[in-house]
Amino acid sequence: MSRFPFPHPYGWFQVAYPDDLEPGGVKALQYWSAELVLWRDEAGEYHLQDAFCPHLGAHLGKGGHVSDGAITCPFHGWRFDGGGTCLEIPYSEKVNRKARLRAYPVVVRNGFVLAWRHPDPDVAPMWEVEEISEIGDEGWSEYYSSEYVIKTVPQEMMENSADPAHFLFVHGTETVAEVEKYDTDGPCSVMLSKQSYVTPRGTTWGRIDVYNYGPGFSKVWFSGIVDAINIATTTPIDDETCVVRFNFTVRKFKDAALTSSVASAFVKEINKQVVEDTPIWENKTFLPVPALADTDGPILKFRKWYSQFYAEPMRTSN
Ligand code: FES
Ligand SMILES: [Fe+2]
Repeated sequence: MSRFPFPHPYGWFQVAYPDDLEPGGVKALQYWSAELVLWRDEAGEYHLQDAFCPHLGAHLGKGGHVSDGAITCPFHGWRFDGGGTCLEIPYSEKVNRKARLRAYPVVVRNGFVLAWRHPDPDVAPMWEVEEISEIGDEGWSEYYSSEYVIKTVPQEMMENSADPAHFLFVHGTETVAEVEKYDTDGPCSVMLSKQSYVTPRGTTWGRIDVYNYGPGFSKVWFSGIVDAINIATTTPIDDETCVVRFNFTVRKFKDAALTSSVASAFVKEINKQVVEDTPIWENKTFLPVPALADTDGPILKFRKWYSQFYAEPMRTSN
């Protein structure tokens, strides 16, 4: 019995960090309930493809190798280019044109390797990945990243940010963020909120602004005491498991040690929050018709926006 009715959403998802793979490297991955192979040609381009060779089903991520801009299957040596076309069967004069690998569009942006996934392989990317100007900017720190595999789905994780009330109970904050604005625009949504913080010198105000770009990519901008951005990416592994990666960058202080201690404090806080959220996420169910309080966050607006990312029917088994 499944706790969630969702098929996999479509959109851009993080599948790796650029440094995960050297040019010429090959890596087996599992996302969207599929076996995949990520490889880099010698020129440094990334290619993500279904892993099972259309000849007799060998896994290209387990022993496949890259040469001359193509991946070679470890079983009988068939070679495929980045688009998934069979280039060569080494023991035949002919090439089998029907033997194609599904290739997923890939971009490297904002310090991530992102792949477009739609259930229909013929549907080309419907939007571009937003370029985030602070990433790679001199004035901002490198990423401080952490990664978690959690028994839930991207929609449920993202709903968390439209739910300020849970911070009081799950995260023990003293105040709750006040939502000022929630707006959607195609694959993007934005929630602006302000939050008071109790400090030894009294109460001060800060902002938490959440920008979602598609179903698996969010920018959470904290400002007030310090400026920090958390880029959170979620990618489904199977129907009930996803990987979430948090990537913090902080606006640099003059003092590098201070920058690193502020960033570390943010990472520590987010780690604490994930540990606190995990038992809720891993045990809750999705209620299509929740009983809400008038002061709850924009949960239904969020769900309506998110529903655009499902191209397949909801599962009815639960
Ligand atoms: S299974 Fe890949 S070449 Fe035969
Ligand atoms: Fe949370």
